[in-house]
Amino acid sequence: MGEHAQKRIVRKLDLERFLSNIIPQPNPQAYLEQYTTPANVAATMLYLAAYTNNDIVGKRVLDLGCGTGRLGLGAAYLGANDVLGVDINRLAIRTAVQNTLNAGLSGKAQWVLGDIAAVVGRFDTVVQNPPFGVQTREADRAFLVKALLLGNAVYSFHNHPQTDKQLIAKLRTSGEFLQVSPAPFLERFVATNGGAVQAVYAMAMSIPKMFDFHTKARYDFVVDLYIIKRVGAEYF
Ligand SMILES: C[S@@+](CC[C@H](N)C(=O)[O-])C[C@H]1O[C@@H](n2cnc3c(N)ncnc32)[C@H](O)[C@@H]1O
Repeated sequence: MGEHAQKRIVRKLDLERFLSNIIPQPNPQAYLEQYTTPANVAATMLYLAAYTNNDIVGKRVLDLGCGTGRLGLGAAYLGANDVLGVDINRLAIRTAVQNTLNAGLSGKAQWVLGDIAAVVGRFDTVVQNPPFGVQTREADRAFLVKALLLGNAVYSFHNHPQTDKQLIAKLRTSGEFLQVSPAPFLERFVATNGGAVQAVYAMAMSIPKMFDFHTKARYDFVVDLYIIKRVGAEYF
């Protein structure tokens, strides 16, 4: 699609429907925090990136820790020029390939099995839902460093600092997202690595019981979407 990428604005409901057809991680491993981003949350991220900030249509998009490709394929569906997804898990990559074929997006997206540490290149936009560090402390930091090295704009989910029941209830009733302040330590970390936080949006996320240590049928928590720009010269 290149320069003449999809001009038509995709309805958010259609995007969400598309994303809910992306097969999630078939056998999620706790140590890699392999849960798939819920379709509504992924749709909100991609919609903001595409239509508020013009960071998707016609752009080179990198999906770090792509899992089965939900974020990257959503970007391709909205009209990204090309998408590269990287994940350390073979089954995730195999499923991403299958999802690409199912979605009829071959030629728009490529999937590589490997550690994000191995990725090089230049990208307009990085989308990621990194491991939050529930299993490995600060696992999301390596993702942020890599994203800021390779991309001009970064859309990255992080744990909301506290489990705030009032905020969860508010987000549930609004069904959408609320702008919040960045966590000071993350804002500093981003600045040290050449970026500036443009905005942070809190969203309610709900995932079903999937790991042995989960004791409840569903987990409701708040995630913060960080929208970050590289400071100084852009790559392109
Ligand atoms: C929370 S899941 C998100 C998956 C997918 N991006 C999504 O939004 O549905 C995090 C993903 O990061 C991958 N991952 C964890 N550490 C990694 C690393 N060092 N290099 C590449 N992928 C990694 C996991 O295998 C997992 O698929």
